[in-house]
Amino acid sequence: MKQTILVTGASSGFGLLMANELHKSGHHVIGTSRNPDKYKGSLPFKLLALDIADDHSITSFSKQLFSQISRLDVLINNAGYLVTGLAEETSIELGRQQLETNFWGTVKLTNELLPYFRKQKQGKIITIGSIVGLIGLPNVAYYSASKHALEGYFKSLRFELDQFNIKVSMVEPMGFKTNIGENAVASNGKIDDYNIFRQRVAAFTKREFDKAAGPGPVVDTVLRIVNEKAPKFSSPVGKGSSLILTLQRFAYSVFESSILKRVNKA
Ligand SMILES: NC(=O)c1ccc[n+]([C@@H]2O[C@H](COP(=O)([O-])OP(=O)(O)OC[C@H]3O[C@@H](n4cnc5c(N)ncnc54)[C@H](OP(=O)(O)O)[C@@H]3O)[C@@H](O)[C@H]2O)c1
Repeated sequence: MKQTILVTGASSGFGLLMANELHKSGHHVIGTSRNPDKYKGSLPFKLLALDIADDHSITSFSKQLFSQISRLDVLINNAGYLVTGLAEETSIELGRQQLETNFWGTVKLTNELLPYFRKQKQGKIITIGSIVGLIGLPNVAYYSASKHALEGYFKSLRFELDQFNIKVSMVEPMGFKTNIGENAVASNGKIDDYNIFRQRVAAFTKREFDKAAGPGPVVDTVLRIVNEKAPKFSSPVGKGSSLILTLQRFAYSVFESSILKRVNKA
């Protein structure tokens, strides 16, 4: 069945690929970007302006959206970015901005659209979290915090929206090749005590990014959830994700020491 689907952050990476695939499958796709003019004429779906870190942008986006469509079946909260850096070396301001976009921006946009979903008594909200929303890793403390916050928020919201036939799910990818690395904001703080560890973490992170797979499996998972009647809450995606989660649940110290060993060898 043809559905009307909103994909935030559809100019790049996962969002671009999922919007293209959903469009190819016959759905009516609306994507968003902070700079839609940059992509004018180059995409097969409509791209509207939206900055989820800006309250005014969210309100004017929603007005524009509902002047163009009469119903919305699926919201895919995909927009987000990555702040990297060891926690103590990252300024609170960078950390705050990370949560302002990834957590608060996603929550504010969802709140803006919820009245429409409730009125329809039907809808689906799929949010792209991260494996580091379920576990921790060095160098991404604020990113990890923003994605953990989304997990808790949407887990609770899922109970509250069930009565309106609005399904809430999350997808938690491991590292995949998109433009997230190029678009990341790196902390420039330096504390000498961390010098060696910082270098090792950088080498470890580079190695992990270099061997990352293309974004296909994440897009396949989102497409599956779009077509499912009653999707489950959580869908981790990526090689080894189930093992990581099992280790975290049953043997967290094994998981921790295996990460530390790999970082220290890098
Ligand atoms: N790649 C991975 O390994 C990975 C793993 C786990 C989770 N994720 C998550 O997957 C999602 C997509 O990331 P990606 O990997 O595809 O990265 P990407 O290639 O950098 O794409 C990020 C998208 O988000 C949009 N965006 C960024 N900040 C925004 C803001 N303030 N308001 C509105 N849109 C904004 C960008 O659009 P414009 O610049 O055009 O506005 C872009 O389309 C993110 O939530 C990310 O945290 C990625």
